[in-house]
Amino acid sequence: MEKFKVGIIGATGMVGQRFVTLMENHPWFELTAIAASPRSAGKTYEQAVANRWAMKTPIPQQAKGLVVMDAQADVEKIAGMVDFVFCAVDMKKEEIRALEERYAKAECPVVSNNSAHRWTDDVPMVVPELNPQHLEIIPYQRKRLGTKRGFIAVKSNCSIQSYAPVLHPLMKYGIEKVLVCTYQAISGAGKTFERWPEMVDNLIPYIGGEEEKSEQEPLKVWGTIQGGKIVKADSPAITAQCLRVPVSDGHTAAAFVTFRNKPTQEQIKADWAAFKGRPQELGLPSAPKQFIHYFEEPDRPQARLDRELEGGMAISVGRLRPDTQYDYKFVGLSHNTLRGAAGGAVLLAELLCAEGYIDHR
Ligand SMILES: NC(=O)c1ccc[n+]([C@@H]2O[C@H](COP(=O)([O-])OP(=O)(O)OC[C@H]3O[C@@H](n4cnc5c(N)ncnc54)[C@H](OP(=O)(O)O)[C@@H]3O)[C@@H](O)[C@H]2O)c1
Repeated sequence: MEKFKVGIIGATGMVGQRFVTLMENHPWFELTAIAASPRSAGKTYEQAVANRWAMKTPIPQQAKGLVVMDAQADVEKIAGMVDFVFCAVDMKKEEIRALEERYAKAECPVVSNNSAHRWTDDVPMVVPELNPQHLEIIPYQRKRLGTKRGFIAVKSNCSIQSYAPVLHPLMKYGIEKVLVCTYQAISGAGKTFERWPEMVDNLIPYIGGEEEKSEQEPLKVWGTIQGGKIVKADSPAITAQCLRVPVSDGHTAAAFVTFRNKPTQEQIKADWAAFKGRPQELGLPSAPKQFIHYFEEPDRPQARLDRELEGGMAISVGRLRPDTQYDYKFVGLSHNTLRGAAGGAVLLAELLCAEGYIDHR
């Protein structure tokens, strides 16, 4: 199979480095162009990340010698070199919105890790196992942008990936309300302990904007396409508190849930075990074989033990039990820079290729 040529915009950052790592030996994708700010442009990738390579594995050989391009000045050039780009940049929201539209209008599909377009109503925000049908909005978006190939697709915020996938197979019981507290790793802020020593032996009870995202984004994922727009679901009601904890990778969620038609614990566990999404049906390269893993041990899931499950793409769950105020409570865990960021975007790109939304130029 001819590989898809891939560009990474923001390749020097925390999420960008993860993308670069995931492109190494990818069966469908070949890293062809990398771009970042003018501070990095013109350097080789190895030089540009010399003092800030944060991955546990070495810089992939194929990336080391690539010359970093300027993400803003070289849009047309990059669009001409690749079949699509991943985008993960740290810029102002309006600037990211404009940049991603420039790539799309240059007929280069954008698979984005950024939040800037998550609420654009013709941009699909996709967790591939949950709402692959939202890709059907893309023809409407192309019409608005005046493009043939170009479009923007985004993944959701990392925090929701530790509880929304767990709730999804239970939607048939009519979920009324959800209370969730998330315990989020420092890599979610693009940091390591070396670069954020204040987080050692500490907890910060505030992550700007995160609670609103955690409450609202699942509703877009569970929304429906109506008249060329994705209209968000009006239930369940979700309330969230999000805390930063001294964990390198892995977001944990403690969730409480009430149903209209309360299932038994056995039914819930059976639904989790049986759940398969479109990525599993299609056998996409990054899809976990078992999406939701339930642990019977009372002290699981644990970030250090379980975050890497199935390449960091599976969701771990444990401690399902009745609650005194809600019907049930459980604890979920997902890897925030794999499933929650770059890995989730790579899976989305695989889905877009498999379903024919991205082709070879
Ligand atoms: N970390 C996570 O787990 C996570 C999860 C979900 C979503 N996100 C989102 O992903 C995005 C990137 O996050 P990150 O943690 O990877 O950030 P980061 O480590 O700070 O990296 C930022 C990247 O953006 C580039 N950049 C900055 N200013 C630029 C400009 N003016 N023009 C072009 N490129 C520019 C940087 O290039 P230089 O190296 O040249 O400065 C770098 O490649 C953000 O939108 C973030 O909200 C992150």
